Amino acid sequence: MNSNKSFIFRHIFLLILLTLTAHSHSQQISAIDLDALLHLTYTLTDVKPGDYFSTWNFTSPENMCTSFNGVTCSIINNELRVTSLFLGTGLSDSPGLAGTISDSIYNLTELTQLILYPGIVTGFIPQEIGSKCNKLRVLSLTNNRLTGSIPESLSGLLNLHTLDLSHNRLTGPIPPSLQKMKVMVLAFNRLAGKIPDFSSESEVMHLDLRNNMFSGTLPENMPLSVRYLSLSGNGLWGPVNSIRSENLVYLDLSMNKFSGPVPVGFFKGSLSSMYLQRNNFSGEILLPSTSAGFEPYGPGSIVDLSHNYLSGDIPNFLDSVETLFLNNNHFTGKVPQSYVENVFAGTTRTLYLQHNYITDFPLENRREFVLPDGVALCLSYNCMVPPPVGLTACPLSAGGPVSRPFRQCSVFQSGNSMG
Ligand SMILES: *[C@@H]1O[C@H](CO)[C@@H](O)[C@H](O)[C@H]1NC(C)=O
Ligand SMILES: *[C@@H]1O[C@H](CO)[C@@H](O)[C@H](O)[C@H]1NC(C)=O
Ligand SMILES: *[C@@H]1O[C@H](CO)[C@@H](O)[C@H](O)[C@H]1NC(C)=O
Repeated sequence: MNSNKSFIFRHIFLLILLTLTAHSHSQQISAIDLDALLHLTYTLTDVKPGDYFSTWNFTSPENMCTSFNGVTCSIINNELRVTSLFLGTGLSDSPGLAGTISDSIYNLTELTQLILYPGIVTGFIPQEIGSKCNKLRVLSLTNNRLTGSIPESLSGLLNLHTLDLSHNRLTGPIPPSLQKMKVMVLAFNRLAGKIPDFSSESEVMHLDLRNNMFSGTLPENMPLSVRYLSLSGNGLWGPVNSIRSENLVYLDLSMNKFSGPVPVGFFKGSLSSMYLQRNNFSGEILLPSTSAGFEPYGPGSIVDLSHNYLSGDIPNFLDSVETLFLNNNHFTGKVPQSYVENVFAGTTRTLYLQHNYITDFPLENRREFVLPDGVALCLSYNCMVPPPVGLTACPLSAGGPVSRPFRQCSVFQSGNSMG
């Protein structure tokens, strides 16, 4: 019985193998695809001659799928079609390609992946690419010098998983309804306009729009699916309540003009990298009264709330953050005892509290004022005489181990003495 089975299996296996080999010998290379590749070479060139295109030998077209650099084919309707195209060697010492991407790319209608490696390619992204190459799953054209706008046709790509157009010179807005992909990286361009409204079906998990010129307030609907969100370095303003934090693990809203309170939902251990510095956030940092299930932060966590207008007490629940920046705000009162303990235990690696209105860093009757190796603590320019620890760990911008002028402190603590 057993040997019978394995005999049959072996035969089926052989049959498959034979069929495959037979096919790869007899399959015709698509003449249209070959012609499209040839036309691409009319406008794209190696920056370093011979670097990439040397293997694209059009006098041996039968080698298109086997030895042309970066070309991968699949059998579709009995023809070998180009399904992946990696333009450039992708090696770190390669200067990449120059020139432009011509419309002949439109004839590669079975492309599922188009990657252009870093280089100095200029010109527009072929505007109809989304309607002609409508099977694209991955489109990555990063680190080149592409100009013009993001093609609206990309909105029609139903299978698009990853769109990475970062580090180019693209201008204009994000086309409406361009949000069907899981990964959208448009960082480091000159894109402008508002962040578009996200439909409830959006499945975007990684959204990186940093270092552009986006402005205005956030849309009413931000994606619920998002795990990584960066909007850093734009001209965005207003409240951030529409950001859904349920699935977030990384959030960077730094260097904008966002205002209002920081939503309570942002504070949880699972959102372990949060950068909100250099905005206009104000108000106290509070957890909802039902904070019993608060997940603490762990090793590697970082929270940066520096350079805002946050006030009130230093919140207890941030004591488990490994790298915490609360400097240059309006925090008042005493630093919770647990912060002091975690700094001396070395579980807090960086604690910046300078330039606030803090009145005490309770060393209690601690004799040992030496911080563990690598721990950075900065307390200068507060409403207390800085205690004799960690003073050398301040950044230069903190302006030395001094107290805030008493005059400024009296506003917050009517008549309390200092030190
Ligand atoms: C291209 O292919 C032709 C035909 O097989 C061959 O004679 C020629 O040497 C090849 N050229 C290069 C640069 O490899
Ligand atoms: C696509 O291929 C056809 C047939 O080879 C050709 O006539 C046409 O010009 C090509 N289109 C583009 C945009 O290159
Ligand atoms: C930033 O906050 C300050 C003080 O709360 C306010 O005067 C200013 O208008 C705010 N700026 C923006 C752009 O929201």
